[in-house]
Amino acid sequence: MYTAKNFEHLLGMNGFSDTLLKNHFTLYEGYVNNVNTLLKKMNAIREERKSGVEDRKEESAELHRRFGWEYNGMKLHELYFENMSKESSEIQESSLLYKALVERFGDIETFKNNFVKNVATFRGIGWVALVQRDDSLGVIWIGEHDEGLLANSNILLIMDVWEHAFMIDYGIKRADYVSAFMRAIDWKVVEKRAEEASR
Ligand SMILES: [Fe+2]
Repeated sequence: MYTAKNFEHLLGMNGFSDTLLKNHFTLYEGYVNNVNTLLKKMNAIREERKSGVEDRKEESAELHRRFGWEYNGMKLHELYFENMSKESSEIQESSLLYKALVERFGDIETFKNNFVKNVATFRGIGWVALVQRDDSLGVIWIGEHDEGLLANSNILLIMDVWEHAFMIDYGIKRADYVSAFMRAIDWKVVEKRAEEASR
């Protein structure tokens, strides 16, 4: 069973109202609860199977299908809140991440423009992520929580682009939210993820 992580240290973050963040935390906790509920139901069906009760195959299949969506909703929110900070930071030129970004995109500004303009302004709800896939970096769009998520890739940086992530503060001005997010990135966390992904 999973326990929701506490991200209240982010309250007061520049560009994000406490009301927006608290609503977002509540929504995240909903995913954790739903994951636990699904696990309990799937476990119950497995136990019934052992005791010879008629198998609930269709219900079991539906629960398994829903599980990935709720699980990713939980995990992607954790990766998102974890890669933000109230303290502003920059990518360290000595970091592995810096070298990899320059190798892939030419320079950091080009990467940021790619992340923000080419992908974050896509229409629809989902996530934008910088991932380590095989031996290269890539910026990807994840529709909802699961469509387009690359198997066996490592998420280094992720931005929530569901409407609940910004509408309370920015209305339909998604680009302003994206700018606020870019200023709130905790690059130390992203650098650490890049190091771990390269091992
Ligand atoms: Fe969200």
